[in-house]
Amino acid sequence: MKHTIEMMISEAEINKTLDQLAERINAHYANSERLLMVGLLKGSVVFMADLCRRIKGHVEIDFMAVSSYGNTMSSSRDVKVLKDVQSDIAGRDVLIVEDLIDSGNTLNKVREMLLLREPKSLALCTLIDKPERREVDVLVDFIGITIPDEFIVGYGIDYAEQYRNLPYIAKVVPLD
Ligand code: PRP
Ligand code: MN
Ligand code: MG
Repeated sequence: MKHTIEMMISEAEINKTLDQLAERINAHYANSERLLMVGLLKGSVVFMADLCRRIKGHVEIDFMAVSSYGNTMSSSRDVKVLKDVQSDIAGRDVLIVEDLIDSGNTLNKVREMLLLREPKSLALCTLIDKPERREVDVLVDFIGITIPDEFIVGYGIDYAEQYRNLPYIAKVVPLD
């Protein structure tokens, strides 16, 4: 698709959002002994790198990779685990870190999967929320920025694997 990109959320705005998110997360986990932040590859990598450096106390990081695809037998979507976390999450405070929540399918399935392992607590954090696109309800504990249904890239978020390295978030504008 021929397209151009337009800056939508600046580096300064992202930094301010991360400061506010970190303040809430630090307050929430003030009494936690070994917080485990779990990022979903690949989109969350940039956000995770910047967010975890703002979290105080004992923090560990781990990653999971999942792929979501349509299930032809039902209207729902299946999520396959391509790479699991290395940590044993039983009895741990776990915070899932996502760049973007769109239909909600990815976070919903990951949440269900991780809950079966009996963490002490499980919370979700996303930098960007697009509530208009939601197909399944997901309770997200920490939300950075809520945006309308725009096609965005940058700061970890890709379009056909491109643009993850942009330091800001941009809107993709189709050209004819
Ligand atoms: C994107 C994004 C979220 C997910 C959100 O990941 O990073 O993980 O989609 O969509 P959903 O709420 O509709 O499930 P993608 O599957 O493109 O993988 P990537 O992180 O490697 O880009
Ligand atoms: Mn992703
Ligand atoms: Mg992607």
